[in-house]
Amino acid sequence: MANNTNEPGQGSTTGAGAPAVSDRNSLTVGPDGPIVLHDVHFLEQMAHFNREKVPERQPHAKGSGAFGVFETTEDVSAYTKAALFQKGCKTEMLARFSTVAGEAGSPDTWRDVRGFSLKFYTSEGNYDLVGNNTPIFFVRDPMKFPHFIRSQKRLPDSGLRDNHMQWDFWTLNPETAHQVTYLMGDRGLPRTWRHMNGYGSHTYMWVNAKGERFWVKYHFHTNQGMEFFTNDEAKAMAGADADFHRRDLFDAIARGDLPSWTLSVQVMPYEDAKTYRFNPFDLTKTWPHSDYPLIRVGTMTLNRNPENFFAQIEQAAFSPGNVVPGIGLSPDKMLLGRAFAYNDAQRYRIGPNFHQLPVNKPRCPVNTYMFDGHMAYEHSGNQPVYAPNSQGRSWSDATGAVDDGWEADGALVRSAYTLRADDDDFMQPGILVREVFDEAQRARLVETVAGALLGGVRSPVLERAFEYWKNIDPDVGRRIEERVRSGTAPEPAAGMSEA
Ligand code: HEM
Repeated sequence: MANNTNEPGQGSTTGAGAPAVSDRNSLTVGPDGPIVLHDVHFLEQMAHFNREKVPERQPHAKGSGAFGVFETTEDVSAYTKAALFQKGCKTEMLARFSTVAGEAGSPDTWRDVRGFSLKFYTSEGNYDLVGNNTPIFFVRDPMKFPHFIRSQKRLPDSGLRDNHMQWDFWTLNPETAHQVTYLMGDRGLPRTWRHMNGYGSHTYMWVNAKGERFWVKYHFHTNQGMEFFTNDEAKAMAGADADFHRRDLFDAIARGDLPSWTLSVQVMPYEDAKTYRFNPFDLTKTWPHSDYPLIRVGTMTLNRNPENFFAQIEQAAFSPGNVVPGIGLSPDKMLLGRAFAYNDAQRYRIGPNFHQLPVNKPRCPVNTYMFDGHMAYEHSGNQPVYAPNSQGRSWSDATGAVDDGWEADGALVRSAYTLRADDDDFMQPGILVREVFDEAQRARLVETVAGALLGGVRSPVLERAFEYWKNIDPDVGRRIEERVRSGTAPEPAAGMSEA
């Protein structure tokens, strides 16, 4: 909600609300003389301008979003007691879409994974689902995350993006194969944000009213249909309009062409996870629909553009740690690492009271024992600032088992997950290439990868890359090697595959 008045003919004011004398002329000693120090309005303008920006997100800096509503259309109360997922419930929400590696001003049509962040303003607190347009991720231990992101960004000396660095990281971490196959396929270049799916990616927990626990994966399928850019189209668009995706979403909503997505979940009974043939908490794997079919939940529709990009999009703070009763995390190590990272990033990026800003503020009553700090706005008056207290301010006091918990045991170790029978880095990407992609998609994959490898990837990373692709699929690997060795691959496409 805008809080600046804009009455015709009234002129502007200072930040303190007094009339600002002039927004055109600074105060000088005669028309040609020096500016005087007591032109406070001028000094305020200069000083505030220097502080207009906050640090951009690291990563996912380039993006935009819109407000909307999520309506639960099906009865999934057998799996979760969360208020927002009870049939008939309509919940106000915010969505933000983004690229991962590019900076705030970078073209949004570069080949990259797209962020798919959702904030539901539920009656039980804000629930954030911070996912991507792919159901999997590059790594499975959060220790690797900062290394992964830096390898996708810029070289320390030239400040240039670098294919060699990207493929060096990927080929040294074979668990990236599934996500890299998605990225180098058509999904790496969605035509618009409206034409892509979204996924929670991780395995989350749902808890029903009886206290029964389930493992779930979220799938938001676009009702606009999936559409993609070709490499050439995306490259041309990156030059013609660096904000194409941001503009497309804003314009579509402005003309009443409201994009929507259908949410379905895969549900795994709690006990199945212990014996499933691969680790169901491994973020580099999908669950076959034949084992866990999609169960429809409801529809998300985006219907309102931001009124102010900075206040409502740049300052929006999403965190996978923001869950509500009936929804929990899981033993996925990546998810547990993320549960810390986001709110910490936002304390740095926006400030310690970011949760008090209108876009982040819960729509339900808040009784928090976090106090003061820079820009504290909400407060609890003279109520006790400690718990327990004997002055009537309530506090929470659960002890014992938690309803969204799980069993854990063992010595402290630094280790990969325990391997199960079908835990293999190349099995699922191989299936994706052979059984999901058709021949035209495989041909485009070969062209895209060859273009990227020809864009500056050197020995020994190049040979490792051929091996990596042969492990995914011998035929695709051979075709990629032949294209690169013959030097006939096309110009590298924009973004991730550009040297
Ligand atoms: C250990 C792994 C990860 C860490 C430590 C991490 C950390 C971060 C941080 C610090 C931000 C910036 C937040 C901000 O400034 O507001 C961010 C943004 C984001 N991350 Fe992650 N991330 C991880 C993995 C993932 C995964 C697996 C996904 C998707 C499944 C993901 C999706 C996103 C999205 C969509 C954003 C943009 C949020 C927005 O729209 O404001 N991240 N990440």
